[in-house]
Amino acid sequence: MSFSPSDTFPYVQLGRSGLVVYALGLGTMQFGWSVDERGAFEVLDAYDEVGGNLIDTADVYSAWSANEGGPPNAGGVSEEIIGRWLAARGNRDRMIIATKVRAAMGESFSDHRGTRYQREGLGRRWIMRACEDSLRRLGVDHIDLYQVHWIDPLVPIAETLGALTDLVRQGKVRYLGCSNFTAWRLMEALWVSDRRQLESFVSVQPEYHLLDPVRSFVELELGPMCVEHGIGMIPYSPLAAGVLTGKYRRDEPQPASVRAELNADRLSDRNWDIVETLLAVAADDGLTPAQAAINWQRSKPWVSAPLVGANRPEQLADSLGALEHRLSTEAIARLDEASDFPRSRPSQEI
Ligand SMILES: NC(=O)c1ccc[n+]([C@@H]2O[C@H](COP(=O)([O-])OP(=O)(O)OC[C@H]3O[C@@H](n4cnc5c(N)ncnc54)[C@H](OP(=O)(O)O)[C@@H]3O)[C@@H](O)[C@H]2O)c1
Repeated sequence: MSFSPSDTFPYVQLGRSGLVVYALGLGTMQFGWSVDERGAFEVLDAYDEVGGNLIDTADVYSAWSANEGGPPNAGGVSEEIIGRWLAARGNRDRMIIATKVRAAMGESFSDHRGTRYQREGLGRRWIMRACEDSLRRLGVDHIDLYQVHWIDPLVPIAETLGALTDLVRQGKVRYLGCSNFTAWRLMEALWVSDRRQLESFVSVQPEYHLLDPVRSFVELELGPMCVEHGIGMIPYSPLAAGVLTGKYRRDEPQPASVRAELNADRLSDRNWDIVETLLAVAADDGLTPAQAAINWQRSKPWVSAPLVGANRPEQLADSLGALEHRLSTEAIARLDEASDFPRSRPSQEI
């Protein structure tokens, strides 16, 4: 039996795993960056109130905020805030905590021979240590979904999967996922797990939205592969970091936001055309632009649960409204057409 979302039961099965997650996951990259702890608690409470259970974080969130003149920050802040919130609310058992390993966490260190070790990567040594650190920061005894943040070309995938499998068998991790993997990398990982009787990835977390310049990679390769092999997809940045919410307009000043500067690259003529189609489609169907962007994504068979970010409960409420509205087939077709990408060859498969 598999769960598909409905208006009254907005939960989905993550691929063919036994994890049943809310149809909209909450991203927490903003916590400790553009949202302080109090604001983060408000967003988390609002998500909990509607029955949301999928909280996505990473060990490194959001270390880069230290580069903007703030105090030294080696990451871990988002996990710590979530940990304090779980303890304050006593709701850990209801929540599915998804975190990640791979990024550099602070300075590298040396042993007595002067050999440098990096606090990063997907080697056994760092994975075992990083998992302990995440458990401590989150204040939990297990992580529900432990994801590798992106590939580590220096480490054989068999070593990574071996270390992750040990964590599952030690009871520190329940399920494994990956992020930013191409279809062939994920396929190779599934193959290695199968051949060596190791635990397998059950989910993948790619970037995916209407403005994504490599959307074709999800739609032609990764997505169909996930459907075929029962891998859940929890795509990130469904609102293109805010550009698809209606507050970015062609020829108007950009909104005041830490994301606006980072979004400058997204503001091409092609993308403005897509944004304007989104605004028109949303207005015709009675949805907000954010809800239309999320529901366009949810119309794709490979998407399990988009991961949205929010700085305030009102932003989250807007995104959550997507679960209560439908986008017409015609609207989805208009968005597909406006954001279509060049297809190099016709194929029966695609
Ligand atoms: N695996 C990876 O490599 C990776 C990479 C990136 C993200 N992620 C995950 O995905 C999550 C979501 O990513 P994201 O933050 O880029 O997602 P997003 O949902 O595309 O963008 C969220 C941002 O859009 C703005 N926004 C949201 N709702 C709004 C509304 N109703 N009206 C106006 N503005 C609104 C807010 O930024 P402003 O208010 O500042 O404009 C908010 O922080 C992250 O938290 C993280 O968990 C993973």
